[in-house]
Amino acid sequence: MEGVTVVEHPLVQHKLTLMRDKTRSTKAFRQLLHEIGMLLCYEVTRDLPLEAIDIETPMASMKSPVLAGKKLVFAPILRAGMGFVDGMLELVPSARVAHIGLYRDPKTLVSVEYYFKAPEDVAERLVIVMDPMLATGNSAIAAVDRLKERGCNNIRLLCLLAAPEGIEKLRAHHPEVHIWAAAVDERLDAHGYIVPGLGDAGDRMYGTK
Ligand code: URA
Repeated sequence: MEGVTVVEHPLVQHKLTLMRDKTRSTKAFRQLLHEIGMLLCYEVTRDLPLEAIDIETPMASMKSPVLAGKKLVFAPILRAGMGFVDGMLELVPSARVAHIGLYRDPKTLVSVEYYFKAPEDVAERLVIVMDPMLATGNSAIAAVDRLKERGCNNIRLLCLLAAPEGIEKLRAHHPEVHIWAAAVDERLDAHGYIVPGLGDAGDRMYGTK
């Protein structure tokens, strides 16, 4: 599917199946999201640019690669996006975090913003927006809109599950925002939930239902 990278790594697929299972405990669900966050982080950063620096090993001088440019920004959409953050920060500890508070109006499914806090120079950095569920696409579009208002022009989207409807809508609004997902599911139901999906990611992470 154009504009989407599905991460087919066996560990990701295995952990995703465990997460979909409705009998999985809240604690296990959170732990799995943390682990998948690390694996997806590996994929979403695969093409980051490197630059060579001079170092001394105990044996010799050499030029060796390190990440080039400004630190990344991880931008979780609250609240479920937080499930990715700690695992990803373990891999990229110097990344900055931008919190984007959005909730879905249950009647209209439109995203309502209640919080936004990003590094001042966010416009100069690669921003990875993260939300486990790309469902209607409304939250992702609102998050990207807001980041673009702040001048960002290098934005990626990371999710666990994507619905075809959400992918289509996000790509229609922001075609340059590439999407990484562990799976693309069949469809949305009448309430905007992904089918077969895994239910409400936030509720399953925090045991709120
Ligand atoms: N948000 C969720 O948590 N789950 C869905 O299926 C859709 C949106």
